[in-house]
Amino acid sequence: MSYASREPVKFAYWVPNVSGGLVISNIEQRTSWTIEYNRKLAQIAEASGFDYALSQIRFTAGYGAEFQHESVSFSHALLESTTTLKVIAAILPGPWNPTLAAKQIATINHLTNGRVSVNVVSGWFRGEFHAIGEHWLDHDERYRRSEEFIRALRGIWTEDNFSFSGDFYRFNNYSLKPKPIDPQPEIFQGGSSRAARDMASRVSDWYFTNGNTPAEIQKQVDDIQGKAKANGHSVRVGVNAFAIVRETEEEARSVLAEIIEKANPDAVNAFGHEVKNAGKSSPEGEGNWAKSSFEDLVQYNDGFRSNLIGTPRQIAERVIDLKRAGADLILLGFLHFQEEVEYFGKHVIPLIRELEAQEGETAVAAE
Ligand SMILES: Cc1cc2nc3c(=O)[nH]c(=O)nc-3n(C[C@H](O)[C@H](O)[C@H](O)COP(=O)(O)O)c2cc1C
Repeated sequence: MSYASREPVKFAYWVPNVSGGLVISNIEQRTSWTIEYNRKLAQIAEASGFDYALSQIRFTAGYGAEFQHESVSFSHALLESTTTLKVIAAILPGPWNPTLAAKQIATINHLTNGRVSVNVVSGWFRGEFHAIGEHWLDHDERYRRSEEFIRALRGIWTEDNFSFSGDFYRFNNYSLKPKPIDPQPEIFQGGSSRAARDMASRVSDWYFTNGNTPAEIQKQVDDIQGKAKANGHSVRVGVNAFAIVRETEEEARSVLAEIIEKANPDAVNAFGHEVKNAGKSSPEGEGNWAKSSFEDLVQYNDGFRSNLIGTPRQIAERVIDLKRAGADLILLGFLHFQEEVEYFGKHVIPLIRELEAQEGETAVAAE
């Protein structure tokens, strides 16, 4: 099936609200996790044609990420520094319960004209759960809890006298006031295991997955969209990529080689052990990092696998290939965020828009 959606593909960037950037490497990175850096980055991103910024939630260090700012308050600060950018705040069920999350996000929605969304993540870091005294649930149990969390968020945001009786959460005639104004907060989720895909096909607005080839993305999309259709649910797909865009392919490839050469092998291997272990109890073994090699793991979410490494034209063509495979949004990480987000907006997005316009004309001619 081809998913060459007629809507322009959307762009998001990872908010560097944790230290160390998006690669586990000692290569020089001019990215900073401070609020000053991030405010300016958000302004550059919205001026460069980015639609969304995605914050991360981490409660403790591990494999880099020594310092971490909290995602919801940080997202609010970025919204206050911008005018059109939408910011997706990461939320981890467990530390957050749906009552607090719904209230917090509804307030931020009012303060920012509906520009806040959430990314409900299910967790991968057992050491972090232990450190903060959270029960570590099995892989599929984590998704069962996340699904209840999402159903509760939606119910609280849209219904009066909301009642819910789940295994993890309960509500009795609860009426949140004020409810969010339109546009309603969108609900994203992260993960690519069967449990993640099934949850996306039932309750999420957006499914975020790790970097991968168009063929592998298309397999996931076929599965999710087929199930979503059967469930009468509509879901869109975001794909992670670490972009290295340079004037020549050679230059871009040599940056990738340097990132990997300067990777910290102990940290990468320990991260690999942790994430593979986190997915182990997923019965089919198809989780986010099931097939990740050492090189893949140097980028936290397999971003090199999407292969947005090369010249602006090569990147534009590969984004179109991902779009044809069913991606509605590309989530981007960079080495030097401020400079590279600006470069991407100036040199890559316009080429993508040209290619999309050509595709549109071909489609119209074929009708
Ligand atoms: C785009 C994206 C963003 C994520 N952000 C976070 C995050 O901020 N904090 C976190 O603990 N996990 C995050 N995760 C990881 C998820 O919590 C989850 O552990 C992982 O995706 C599980 O994948 P699986 O179900 O395929 O095994 C993210 C995942 C994706 C794909």
